[in-house]
Amino acid sequence: MSASEAVTDALRDLHARFVGVRDGRRADYIPELARSDPDDFGLALVSMDGHSYSAGAADTPFTMQSVSKPFVYALALASLGLDEVGRWVGAEPSGEAFNAISLEPGTGRPANAMVNAGAIVTTALVPDSRQVPAFRRILVCLSRFAGRKLDVDEDVYASEAATGDRNRALAYLARSAGTLPVDPVAAVDNYFRQCAVRVTAVDLAVMAATLAYGGVNPVTGESVVSPEVAAQVLAVMATCGMYDSSGDWLLRVGLPAKSGVSGGLIAAGPARFGLAAYSPLLDASGTSVRGHAALGALSERLGLHLM
Ligand code: DON
Repeated sequence: MSASEAVTDALRDLHARFVGVRDGRRADYIPELARSDPDDFGLALVSMDGHSYSAGAADTPFTMQSVSKPFVYALALASLGLDEVGRWVGAEPSGEAFNAISLEPGTGRPANAMVNAGAIVTTALVPDSRQVPAFRRILVCLSRFAGRKLDVDEDVYASEAATGDRNRALAYLARSAGTLPVDPVAAVDNYFRQCAVRVTAVDLAVMAATLAYGGVNPVTGESVVSPEVAAQVLAVMATCGMYDSSGDWLLRVGLPAKSGVSGGLIAAGPARFGLAAYSPLLDASGTSVRGHAALGALSERLGLHLM
């Protein structure tokens, strides 16, 4: 069997194996996310030659939520460099939930750019200019990672904006600690918009593959960020991308990854592939149950563990 037949077979088999799993719950603290279809389940893998493999609902649109965080971190790193970004946000696992208060003793920095507190700060580091508002820059960057023009799901954005007081509180705490360079209301608004950017599992696999391919989108050939930035982002995904289950994930699945509460999940095999899953039923850490199971089984079946 060729390598590409092995991938196609594995995605189909794992889709069939886990599509019947009904564990987990949709996120409902963002009311619009509770309207997603709990039966949706898609898997996608994009190789370094830009070929995409998929199974199930891999073309169904959903919002990025926290899967946006590593890509906006990449934009901040590309714009300002690691030292300047590191003055505002740390790179240590927090061992806590995605929405925890995160204030490093002494500096007041959020622990890392994958938890909400750190992601809000990271979004705020993307500068506005008179010609290009910061969110425009974020959307263009996410679109280059995906290799197509992405847009915002206005209903999900409005739903989170109407209920996102905890994130507003995190932004105000960061502001009071001196680690938020802009107005908290504006920072959170851009953050909510970035979380509501609409993608498919195939898009996410292309985006993850771009990180895996040293910042070059393997489908379009465009260099989106430098190899150094891509490596920095993958490092933080490996240690912090799965929040308080990052250690267990790296132990068992062995790949840099990022989850989101819409049910999106990415993982990257450096210089090998980008992987994505979509299924809205979540476990207690806000990770897709079917996505976690399928990516874990795929890693085992195809020998993807990095260590
Ligand atoms: O800020 C929030 O709560 C959401 N927009 C994103 C959180 C999220 O996706 C956590 N990841 N699993």
